[in-house]
Amino acid sequence: MINATGVHKSFAIGSRTVHALRGIDLSIESPGFYAIMGRSGSGKSTLLHMLSAMDRPDKGEIIVSGHAIHSMGEAQATMFRRKDIGVIFQAFNLIPTMTALENVQLPGLLAGDQSKELIARSHELLDLLGLEDRTTHRPEALSGGEQQRVAIARALLYKPAVIFADEPTGNLDTAASAMVWSMLRDIAKEQRVTIVMVTHEPQAASYCQRIFVMNDGMIVGTIDAPEQGAFDAGTIATRTQHLLSATQ
Ligand SMILES: Nc1ncnc2c1ncn2[C@@H]1O[C@H](COP(=O)(O)OP(=O)(O)OP(=O)(O)O)[C@@H](O)[C@H]1O
Ligand SMILES: [Mg+2]
Repeated sequence: MINATGVHKSFAIGSRTVHALRGIDLSIESPGFYAIMGRSGSGKSTLLHMLSAMDRPDKGEIIVSGHAIHSMGEAQATMFRRKDIGVIFQAFNLIPTMTALENVQLPGLLAGDQSKELIARSHELLDLLGLEDRTTHRPEALSGGEQQRVAIARALLYKPAVIFADEPTGNLDTAASAMVWSMLRDIAKEQRVTIVMVTHEPQAASYCQRIFVMNDGMIVGTIDAPEQGAFDAGTIATRTQHLLSATQ
């Protein structure tokens, strides 16, 4: 599903070089809900940019759903992002002049698809996200949580096998966040999608089955949900702290 090996990425800022990723190995073999955690600046967003073909690594290989990302050209990467994966950001990135339904259809409209199937699928997805009575609302008439659920529906439009989410609840309150996390968890399970979410919050990661912990451009460990019972935020915070202090 996702296989990254030896991924490096640096940025030049003036005369200084920032090594954002220093040899990432990451493997996800089965559908489910996964978290990437780590301090600010540890390289989480950079890694997600590489995995979602928004940028290319300096070194290393990345395979997502059978596509070799590291060697993709710009045109290929655009098609890959539109059809093969879904992406969700902290800012909901909805088009203000479009209704919820049109925002969900957007990737299809951009590809020139006006089919009945596209409209039917968009309605189906708004239903799935609990927004069936919000189809004609524009973003300004929706709450933050509702806007992010429209963005999730949009990410699901072409039934991608993989969805990447960077701090998807960073702009939401606790109740709306919990709703988004549980919906992502259920979608991963019921639609057999691989969802990879970057988050700062142990509470968010508690909905996931596996957590990859990053520090200074590397994955320093993984934490798996217990076989029985819930993954609680307190345990996650403690175990993440242990992993980070062991690798200082
Ligand atoms: N386009 C860029 N140009 C220059 N430096 C960058 C760029 N993108 C990221 N960096 C640097 O790479 C490092 C990792 O950044 P990244 O955004 O991946 O961290 P992060 O873990 O997502 O942090 P946060 O939790 O604050 O979002 C940082 O030092 C950052 O300043
Ligand atoms: Mg980030």
